[in-house]
Amino acid sequence: MLEASAGGPAGGDSRTATAAHPRTWLARWLETNSELRRLHETSPMLDVVVDAQDGRRLRVGDHWLVDFASCNYLGFDLDPEIIAAVPGYLARWGTHPSWSRMLASPVLNQRIDAELASLLGAEDALTLPTITHIHSSVLPALADQGTVYLDARAHKTIWDGCQIARGRGATVRRFAHDDPGELERLLRAGGPEPRVVCTDGINSMTGNPPPLREYLRLARAYDALLYLDDGHGFGVIGERAPDEPCPYGRRGNGLLRHLGESYDHVVYVGGCSKAYSSLLAFVACPTRLKELLKVAAPPYLYSGPSPIASLATILEGLRVNADRGDELRARLWRHTRRVLDTLDELGAWTPNTSGFPIVQVPLADPADLDPAAALLFRRGIYATLAFHPGVPRSQVGFRLQLTAANTDQHVDLLTDVLRDLATRYPLRPADEPHTLVLP
Ligand SMILES: Cc1ncc(COP(=O)(O)O)c(C=O)c1O
Repeated sequence: MLEASAGGPAGGDSRTATAAHPRTWLARWLETNSELRRLHETSPMLDVVVDAQDGRRLRVGDHWLVDFASCNYLGFDLDPEIIAAVPGYLARWGTHPSWSRMLASPVLNQRIDAELASLLGAEDALTLPTITHIHSSVLPALADQGTVYLDARAHKTIWDGCQIARGRGATVRRFAHDDPGELERLLRAGGPEPRVVCTDGINSMTGNPPPLREYLRLARAYDALLYLDDGHGFGVIGERAPDEPCPYGRRGNGLLRHLGESYDHVVYVGGCSKAYSSLLAFVACPTRLKELLKVAAPPYLYSGPSPIASLATILEGLRVNADRGDELRARLWRHTRRVLDTLDELGAWTPNTSGFPIVQVPLADPADLDPAAALLFRRGIYATLAFHPGVPRSQVGFRLQLTAANTDQHVDLLTDVLRDLATRYPLRPADEPHTLVLP
């Protein structure tokens, strides 16, 4: 039906597209994602219906799998202390404040803004339900009719925000992924102001940070704003300390604090739907900008807010983070190291050079993706498939994520299965063992 309603061919048959009837956006999209469409039909690993859960294990039909595709890095989705606290909030506030944020918000939102700002060491913070809402509204407001500089491998939701900014009169310039040299050339060439540089913090596929110090230097030198999406980093990476229990640092207060950098010329975007297991996201910014966004960002004016359970989860999560977050992060680091050490032992390459709990495992032959995914599924491992064009063809394979709610036995199973898989479907070989370098 999709093909019919697209008014043109899907799946790449461009022969029938003519000048009079060019392929529609949807047909082009389906063509670009033809590998996903094929996998969707053949792989048990996609679009799964989870019938039950037991800790970080899933039951699909009568088959149990260990979940290595969860972004709940700190395990707060399963934390008994957080779960026990939520009903008290529901009893006081009901399930959902159905005002738009501009009309009214429970005082919980104000507390969350203040606690986030304090944790981050930022002047202020404003929450909206998701990072996608933030990119679609805050980014165009910041860009106005100026110039946006976009990392070529920025997350799709940032691209979509840039498209909206372009539709409202901004100029969008792309620079090569993680390439401050090209960014500087573009900034030097000039362009309408204001100027906004957009990049991911911790990258959602590689687990690596961008060259943030160089980007910060450029943003400050050229009077541009650095718009940083640290959806994955927030909650995991944090400020350095001599007594830190692991190289992620302490407190999980994000990539800027990890580098010991200030928020000067930065709009820091973080999400709570990953490490904090809560449907909420935030912009850390000066209060003056926050007040402007309250009338300039349509989701604040017109969208439904986050449910009370999410507000409760983040408030309780912030409390648990202060009590035992560093312990959970140390556990996460140990799990991740075991997986990275196993890949080293197998001589396999991963783009992860940071030790962040996102470990992409490319296959030597991208055509092995379907049978390799079937083997993982059969052996009880649930992972995210990394298909083209979501990743370059040389990185087609799967992505593993570790959480503090995974047990040592889960990681034992994973490392066994990786060894078995590598004998049947070779992993992309590494030239040399990787060294972990968090900045
Ligand atoms: C880097 C990055 N930004 C944004 C998003 C979307 O976040 P949200 O679900 O809060 O819209 C994701 C989702 O995985 C992401 O990885």
